[in-house]
Amino acid sequence: MHIKILGSGAGGGFPQWNCNCANCRAVRAGAPGFKPRTQSSLAVSANGRDWALLNASPDLRQQLTQSPQLAPRESDAVRASPIKAVVVTNGDVDHVTGLLTLREAQAFTIYGAGRVLGVLAQNRIFNVCAPAYVARRELPLNTPQPLAGAEVDLGLTVEAFPVPGKIALWLEDALAENYGGAEGDTLGLKIAETGTGKSFFYIPGCAKIDDDLAARIRGASLVFFDGTLWHENEMIDQGLLGKTGARMGHINMSGEDGSIAAFAKLDVARKIFVHINNSNPVLNEASIERREAQAAGWEIGEDGMEVVL
Ligand code: MLT
Ligand code: MN
Ligand code: ZN
Repeated sequence: MHIKILGSGAGGGFPQWNCNCANCRAVRAGAPGFKPRTQSSLAVSANGRDWALLNASPDLRQQLTQSPQLAPRESDAVRASPIKAVVVTNGDVDHVTGLLTLREAQAFTIYGAGRVLGVLAQNRIFNVCAPAYVARRELPLNTPQPLAGAEVDLGLTVEAFPVPGKIALWLEDALAENYGGAEGDTLGLKIAETGTGKSFFYIPGCAKIDDDLAARIRGASLVFFDGTLWHENEMIDQGLLGKTGARMGHINMSGEDGSIAAFAKLDVARKIFVHINNSNPVLNEASIERREAQAAGWEIGEDGMEVVL
């Protein structure tokens, strides 16, 4: 199974257009030890020819330009794409707006939670993924589903499961309990290769590693996990946004309640942070925080990183 990180950044990317934080200034200036990052997406393929995207970021066009394996091949028809399916884990801007890049009467399948597909259906702009060509399939929870494009089985299954999280920022209802969020608003995915049974987890947004999630990922060979924040309060401390990680639906890496501590007990063979926010000190390759994460066995995801499982 081939996996490629198309975008390792969180919403806004790195640098973010309007952000003048120390990290964004450094990466903009080309300082050593800082790599730019596009917004959150992975690509996966069993045969190296037919691919599924896991989330479709607003940077998709740029990501495709940097991924020859995702471009039409010379022997293909005049209109063609190796992208046969897109699975979305929530309705966030950084995860769904890339669908708008996939217009032009090309057949593929969109998979997502019922609530997220409902939101796409209500927004007519997503009809650029013309219903005559693009099937939309609801993912049942906790039930592996074969991933398929219009004419091809990808040789992969996806199991979607709810994780602690939050409704998409742009769908928040300030007056409703839990901002109007409900189960299915934030999914984790387990992708398995049908032929070999090999599998990995993709969990780009997660507020807490509860007992259910811990049991699910224990002993996994590979997990891509929410690396938004190092510290619960870093956005506030840096004067960027008056919100904690908990309020944003993202767990912190550090501390007793953080992901590094939680994973220390889970015996996961390979763990890679993705969806890394521009405020996170691990983006500085020379930082103490970067060393601490790596010493705990974590890799810091980068755009273009490829894993063969
Ligand atoms: C998030 O991950 O919390 C969202 O992408 C935030 C946003 O929509 O900007
Ligand atoms: Mn996001
Ligand atoms: Zn910044």
